[in-house]
Amino acid sequence: MRSTEASRPFVFVTRPIAEQALTELAGFARVDLWDDEMPPPRAVLLERVARADAILTLLTDRIDAAAIAAAPRLRVISNLAVGVDNIDLDAATRAGVAVGHTPGVLTETTADLAFALLMAAARRIVEADSYTRQGRWRTWGPHLMLGRDVFGATLGIVGWGAIGRAMARRAAGFRMRVLYAAREGKAGAKPGPHAAGKLAGARRVSLDELLRESDFVSLHVPLTPETRAMLSGREFRAMKSGAILINTARGEVIDQRALYEALASGHLAAAALDVTSPEPIAPDDPLLSLPNVILTPHIGSASHATRLRMAQIAVANIRDVLAGRLPRYCANPAVRLRKPH
Ligand code: DGY
Repeated sequence: MRSTEASRPFVFVTRPIAEQALTELAGFARVDLWDDEMPPPRAVLLERVARADAILTLLTDRIDAAAIAAAPRLRVISNLAVGVDNIDLDAATRAGVAVGHTPGVLTETTADLAFALLMAAARRIVEADSYTRQGRWRTWGPHLMLGRDVFGATLGIVGWGAIGRAMARRAAGFRMRVLYAAREGKAGAKPGPHAAGKLAGARRVSLDELLRESDFVSLHVPLTPETRAMLSGREFRAMKSGAILINTARGEVIDQRALYEALASGHLAAAALDVTSPEPIAPDDPLLSLPNVILTPHIGSASHATRLRMAQIAVANIRDVLAGRLPRYCANPAVRLRKPH
């Protein structure tokens, strides 16, 4: 028997996502799309979630306990991201609402960006581009735009999840010595479905040793109460003089003021940040005044193919829950799903 339009589940999608994924979603649900680049204002979000059986959210949508309480029909929050720090997971679990996310598919794309930032910071590519465009290039010079070697250098990876390990595989091609620091239980974790290749030679060390020894430090941890501001003044001072920091994780993992001081004093050679706190970075943030800082607008997973796959997984996570099972990629697997309204 065909369901009538009114009996089809109602899904609020907080931003335009890949057209193909929206079409898939419209095949089994009524879609209410917030068709704007900016997030829906809080009042709109609360009004729309009140009617929704599912919501498809971005990391810039704050889905806290109040938003979940305002959604009596809600069965799944499907985040178009691997990170779920924008969602109150405990509140969702208590309410019987599953939280879906998109791990795995963005691993290699994010590691590509992290490695690109590492190379760009090491060889001052952004500074050199501006220098050239500004007409300041007068002649070849033995001291012009000197950077750091990547080949053979030591890379410290903080966080040994799928993206951290993908970064290590890239480093192997540059014969880098790889150190990593991981939470308890992470060291023996199996590579994810998209992780291929060997990590021979990567050595687990304490965070202190990693900071002391590494020429490059790259962050790959989720944002949790334990990782918030995990790199601050003490940690930056512990880093090797002339080291370079790469952050493609979350801005809140570092204390940005302390990073500014470490860079401005010349202790660190450079930083490349795809994530900041807040996002976008405040226009008066002193980091913007430093030529040895590269900033990109949170584009770690931003390739055409990966964003399409993320959108399709986000839709599949919704389909799973509306069919009565946990999402295939579930961030709160202990949840006991609430009954359909
Ligand atoms: C994530 O997925 O958490 C990234 O930050 C965006 O792709």
